[in-house]
Amino acid sequence: MADAATTADAVRTGAGTRDDRSFLWRRLHSLSGVLPLGVFLCYHLFENMSALRSPAAYDEMVNHVNVLLPRPFFYALELVTIVLPLAYHALYGVWVAVTGRPNNGRYAYPSNWGYLAQRITGVIALLFLLVHVGTLRTWVTLLGHHLSAVRTLTPDGLDLVTYRDVAAHLGNPASLGVQSILAGDHIFALYVLGTLCTLWHFTYGLKGFCWTWGIAVGRLAQRRVTQVAWLLFALLSVGTLSILFQLRFGAVG
Ligand code: HEM
Ligand code: HEM
Repeated sequence: MADAATTADAVRTGAGTRDDRSFLWRRLHSLSGVLPLGVFLCYHLFENMSALRSPAAYDEMVNHVNVLLPRPFFYALELVTIVLPLAYHALYGVWVAVTGRPNNGRYAYPSNWGYLAQRITGVIALLFLLVHVGTLRTWVTLLGHHLSAVRTLTPDGLDLVTYRDVAAHLGNPASLGVQSILAGDHIFALYVLGTLCTLWHFTYGLKGFCWTWGIAVGRLAQRRVTQVAWLLFALLSVGTLSILFQLRFGAVG
């Protein structure tokens, strides 16, 4: 009897520990989607709105961001607040999407459609971000391979991505320098699809987030969060599309 009880206890304890751990990873996944990723996304789009003022204002913004801190601190901050949370959120998200794991008893998704769309848009966001960060941050800024024929240094003497590079990346003929798979209309199409999916994924995810963290669990509270999420999606989408169309079709200075 005692042995059976001990075994049962051990099994229960073991299972409990595994559940606790999975609960913690899932919570961390939920949190990372909003803090820091969602906050970064809003700030990043706000920064990129400078493209609507002028190419010079845009280059000034990029320079300003890059000289906010001494280089080692800047990279450390970027790693801790963007790269690691994004890598964790994306990898765990792909695992959830591919294995189709249920929501651990959460019912934040009102329909199977919402549940499925959250996963599909996550995978599209990942493809978009691999091209986006791989090209602009890594290929151009860190490795110095410009997409525009014109290369300019910032007022601080840094060789960074410029308005012209982003315009060329999106296929703006006024700026296209080198022939590259990384520049053209296909990239513009990917950006329109990729940014809209990322925005939808984030804003729709706010509902799951508010449910997970007990911020809005009732029917009425969930309906309010849904309304706010749609409003945020509409505002961010208009802002993002304006930036993309300006860069693709506007003058490059
Ligand atoms: C209007 C659309 C967008 C434009 C014009 C844009 C522009 C840029 C540029 C120019 C960089 C390189 C900055 C540098 O090297 O200093 C960059 C980096 C980055 N972007 Fe975007 N972006 C857009 C949308 C997005 C979206 C929707 C996300 C999704 C979260 C995103 C995430 C990132 C990340 C993670 C980096 C690398 C980290 C960093 O440099 O701060 N971007 N973006
Ligand atoms: C890069 C590729 C990404 C993948 C593969 C991905 C995947 C996922 C998946 C599968 C979920 C649903 C989890 C569940 O219901 O159990 C999710 C939730 C979420 N994601 Fe992402 N995601 C990605 C990027 C992003 C980005 C860039 C943001 C924010 C800008 C974001 C914000 C959120 C939010 C707020 C949630 C809801 C959290 C919750 O339900 O509690 N995700 N993600």
